[in-house]
Amino acid sequence: MGSIWKMLGISGLVFTVLFLSLVCSSVRADVSYDDKAFIINGKRRILVSGSIHYPRSTPEMWPDLIQKAKDGGLDVIQTYVFWNGHEPSPGKYNFEGRFDLVKFIKLVHQSGLYVHLRIGPYVCAEWNFGGFPVWLKYVPGIEFRTDNQPFKVAMQRFVQKIVDMMKSESLFEPQGGPIIMSQIENEYGPVEWELGAAGKAYTAWAAKMAVGLDTGVPWIMCKQDTAPDPIIDTCNGFYCEGFRPNKPYKPKMWTEAWSGWYTQFGGPVPHRPAEDLAFSVARFVQNNGSFFNYYMYHGGTNFGRNAAGLFVATSYDYDAPIDEYGLLNEPKWGHLRDLHKAIKQSEAALVSSYPTVTWPGKNQEVHVFRSKSGACAAFLSNYDRTYPTKLTFRNIQYDLPPWSISILPDCKTEVYNTARISSMSSQAKMVPISGDLSWQSYNEQTPSADDSDTLAMDGLWEQINVTRDSSDYLWYLTEVGIASDEGFLKSGQWPLLTVMSAGHALHVFINGLLSGTVYGSLDSTKLTYGGNVDLRAGINKISLLSVAVGLPNAGMHYERWNTGVLGPVTLQGLNEGTRDLTKQRWSYKAGLKGESLSLDTVSGSSSVEWIEGLLLAQKQPLTWYKTTFDAPEGSDPLAIDMISMGKGEIWINGQSIGRHWPGYKAKGSCGECNYAGTFSEKKCQRGCDQPSQRWYHLPRSWLKSSGNLLVVFEEWGGDPTQISLVKRTT
Ligand SMILES: *[C@@H]1O[C@H](CO)[C@@H](O)[C@H](O)[C@H]1NC(C)=O
Ligand SMILES: *[C@@H]1O[C@H](CO)[C@@H](O)[C@H](O)[C@H]1NC(C)=O
Repeated sequence: MGSIWKMLGISGLVFTVLFLSLVCSSVRADVSYDDKAFIINGKRRILVSGSIHYPRSTPEMWPDLIQKAKDGGLDVIQTYVFWNGHEPSPGKYNFEGRFDLVKFIKLVHQSGLYVHLRIGPYVCAEWNFGGFPVWLKYVPGIEFRTDNQPFKVAMQRFVQKIVDMMKSESLFEPQGGPIIMSQIENEYGPVEWELGAAGKAYTAWAAKMAVGLDTGVPWIMCKQDTAPDPIIDTCNGFYCEGFRPNKPYKPKMWTEAWSGWYTQFGGPVPHRPAEDLAFSVARFVQNNGSFFNYYMYHGGTNFGRNAAGLFVATSYDYDAPIDEYGLLNEPKWGHLRDLHKAIKQSEAALVSSYPTVTWPGKNQEVHVFRSKSGACAAFLSNYDRTYPTKLTFRNIQYDLPPWSISILPDCKTEVYNTARISSMSSQAKMVPISGDLSWQSYNEQTPSADDSDTLAMDGLWEQINVTRDSSDYLWYLTEVGIASDEGFLKSGQWPLLTVMSAGHALHVFINGLLSGTVYGSLDSTKLTYGGNVDLRAGINKISLLSVAVGLPNAGMHYERWNTGVLGPVTLQGLNEGTRDLTKQRWSYKAGLKGESLSLDTVSGSSSVEWIEGLLLAQKQPLTWYKTTFDAPEGSDPLAIDMISMGKGEIWINGQSIGRHWPGYKAKGSCGECNYAGTFSEKKCQRGCDQPSQRWYHLPRSWLKSSGNLLVVFEEWGGDPTQISLVKRTT
């Protein structure tokens, strides 16, 4: 049926919608699409969108972030919905504070922008467990993201809950709200391919379920070219100009134009030049693109223990146009604002015509859009990575820098070139705030197997099975008896203890003393401790503190991946040869004593004796530190400089601001970043051989004017007297 609708200039889908609204006047189809544009209340649009994830900033920051997005030329704010934040235990919902989804959407609405709601509920997102609550893993018979009844029941219940909530608040566009589209699942294409028939059946079910919820706005599936009609399949990537949706009547959408990349502890800080990002977007639009979304427009912070596995850092800055602290990342923000202006000036031509493409010279390409009403816009490209070029178009000569696109909204006047930046650069600085912090310390003891709150079992248990992720920490405690006639006692050749762990970090204590620390690499969370240990005749205590650093957020059946000490655990060098400790009696204690005492709160911290002055613990493992301070004046965003610390977690007034790990130095390749080329997250990075993350965002709204309680738990040992408060300025 394509050709006749093409002649009429409308697609079958639009026609169906129009037809339905004629026969059934109660149906108001306010958001529809064809292959060239989204059509909102009858107006054809090229939509500029950006991701801001509500829990990655504070409600107090939201209005300013949204305003800056609007000033940057965005039409749409895109966000995932974070199931584990909303349903921390089955049936117990949380829509408060940073998880106040309705408030966030209403703020976007008030500013006049639209919302793209990616319900998922699988979201990946470098977010703990990909957004799934950990309890979901323990639903009997469950398998994630496949044709599995318990999973489908749980998923549908949550998706329905969110859709009902949006409907009851009248937040979908046909109800007068800002939500113009939704997403079901997330990047499922490669998983479906691996799973085969079960994956296909699940896709068909998910699509039908979503469409059946009758939201009145289109659904999309990203990175999934099998998306069933009427769901739109979309592209995610650094470049998406070559992407084609799976049906000719669907619009070409780029749900994730990566503005940078995330940082991992142990890795450098990725940087994507503004020129290359603008180039990729202009190239997408000139190739029929109708919707693009910056992932991220504001990345924000992985507060608490929300960062995902493989050591995703607490900062989720992403080199986004608005930085982690809510400040403009210039020149990126301004350069993209100028790009959006040029695209908007060209919109009338873009939404109603296909481009005519010509190749006037080597590495030169010209796209001309001409609408029936007379609008004309041209995009002139130079694909050469090294040399500028002179391109003649309609008898006028245009100078194009290498790897760049010029936009001529009237087919004549160049208003923008992706490689020529006219907005100012800014270098954000961290400025120390004067005034020393006065610290007190409290030592976390290694627990004893006979403590009442330990659990004794034969053999080694998987970590999350025991902790249910209530803490990063799980103690594995056991004892080894050493006879007084052991040869090593005389020779002084200590026996070798070997501990194999699925990850992610491990501290080994022998009779209460730290014997060693190991942690996984960015390629694998697995680790092995091997060390000669000082055992004495009699009973020796082996205490292993296994540390999880976020749960996996992606991968086939990641719900089956293990964490913690699964063995084998062996002792070599005894008279008997090798002693296997794997299957013997182990006691378990989930979490730290300081966590169960809530040392991060005022009341909890007053329940123990703190040490200060000359006796303050320094460079000692497993130490709690606390201090109080008054809120610094002004409104600059604040951070804590943790350069002198190793690894652990930070709280302000009882709220976790995330894991710190400045002890993990960035390994990788850094260097001059040449924007003219195919970008990859491995190419352009900064900060090699330095801590991957030194500064930790302290939201202003979490401070009182005086007497703020700052608590740090330090695993490795550090010098708290060097910790300082800083403000971020540009
Ligand atoms: C734009 O879309 C039309 C219709 O599908 C197609 O023929 C044309 O090749 C596309 N042009 C580009 C540059 O992608
Ligand atoms: C998980 O815990 C259950 C008991 O709750 C136990 O039976 C099972 O062996 C544990 N599995 C692993 C892999 O540790």
